[in-house]
Amino acid sequence: MAATLAPAGKSYAELLVLYSDPDTCPAEALAPVPLAQEPAFVSWQQDIPRVYLEMSPEELDHRIAAARARLGSKLVILGHHYQRDEVIKYADFTGDSFKLARHAAEQEGIEYVLFCGVHFMAESADILTPEHVRVILPNMAAGCSMADMADPDDVYAAWDEIHEVLGEDARIIPVTYMNSAASLKAFVGERGGLVCTSSNADRALRWAFERGEKVFFFPDQHLGRNTGYAMGIPLDEMVLWNWRLPMGGTTPEALRKAKIILWQGHCSTHQRFTVEQIEKARREHPGVHVIVHPECRWEVVQAADSYGSTEKIAKTIREAPAGTTWAVGTEINLVNRLAKQNPDKTVFCLDPVVCPCSTMYRIHPAYVAWTLEAIVQGQVVNEVRVDPETRKWSLVALERMLELG
Ligand code: 13P
Ligand code: SF4
Repeated sequence: MAATLAPAGKSYAELLVLYSDPDTCPAEALAPVPLAQEPAFVSWQQDIPRVYLEMSPEELDHRIAAARARLGSKLVILGHHYQRDEVIKYADFTGDSFKLARHAAEQEGIEYVLFCGVHFMAESADILTPEHVRVILPNMAAGCSMADMADPDDVYAAWDEIHEVLGEDARIIPVTYMNSAASLKAFVGERGGLVCTSSNADRALRWAFERGEKVFFFPDQHLGRNTGYAMGIPLDEMVLWNWRLPMGGTTPEALRKAKIILWQGHCSTHQRFTVEQIEKARREHPGVHVIVHPECRWEVVQAADSYGSTEKIAKTIREAPAGTTWAVGTEINLVNRLAKQNPDKTVFCLDPVVCPCSTMYRIHPAYVAWTLEAIVQGQVVNEVRVDPETRKWSLVALERMLELG
């Protein structure tokens, strides 16, 4: 069924305003429509051949299936849990960022990886696969706003400033969240640190504290704070580094006292969840279990019953007894899918507004059809390639993470 974009009668500019404001983003925002009708398309990759713009969801589905079949075992498609249903259905493997990185590293005999996720995930897949494997991101505009909050130059400057205060010999281990540029993964690899994801951040911090006295954690302040707190580090021993301010907006005393220096980055999708939403869910659904992603604010994670990576959220709900009710604090495409996959349970999103992660959502089926058909025609478009020097050190940091499990 070809859905039309609601509400009808609005101009393109009006729709853009409507859809980019979380308070007015309508439920129809998730209905499959041709690429040309996606209100945010103006800010997505534009050089896709025009023929793909007006293709209906059914035609795209048919073309993706045909190209997929032609490519056979040369190709593996990886799909992050936040992808839309029309895309995730083609994934050979789905998962959270850790599981997908592991799948990328384990593939043998393939030539192409189509990564249905965001740019930092495709970069990591390129680092973890042999040189000859071509990693493709269907829409090159699919980045991550949190990763963009850690500009490598700002991180290097912060590292130097921190060492100016604490001394060149200070034992600080840098830890970067997977949601970061490959150059930052290389930065931590070269300085005795490692990468972590939301599924192993506790193990990564423990690893780091076995080797140093302090951790410099970027870019997600919330994951760092939630993980540190769960390990017993009090809030006043975690200092926030505001990269917009001189000396990170902190003081030498606070830096000396801190066990963890947290970069002031966040995920806009997960910062939307609030304690008030949890209280409302508990009032309206007695006995509800609240589970959230650790990119949510500390007070939200404290108010929830449990938290974990997207894979852990999916597994927890899958394994829960029939008849239970789940209020979930993570991206809407995953929550809607969990509701469909668990018809014996009640599953709903804590946030009544349905805006998806706007960058994950950029993997529209038209881009998948285009990039796959290009491979069939002997061309590779949208390849993500990490330069050899960056690759060397970022691989060290990623392998340290993979060894943690
Ligand atoms: P997961 O590793 O839990 O899938 O998280 C990735 C992400 O970007 C969540 O916002
Ligand atoms: Fe980045 Fe947040 Fe989207 Fe995850 S949900 S990819 S952290 S913007």
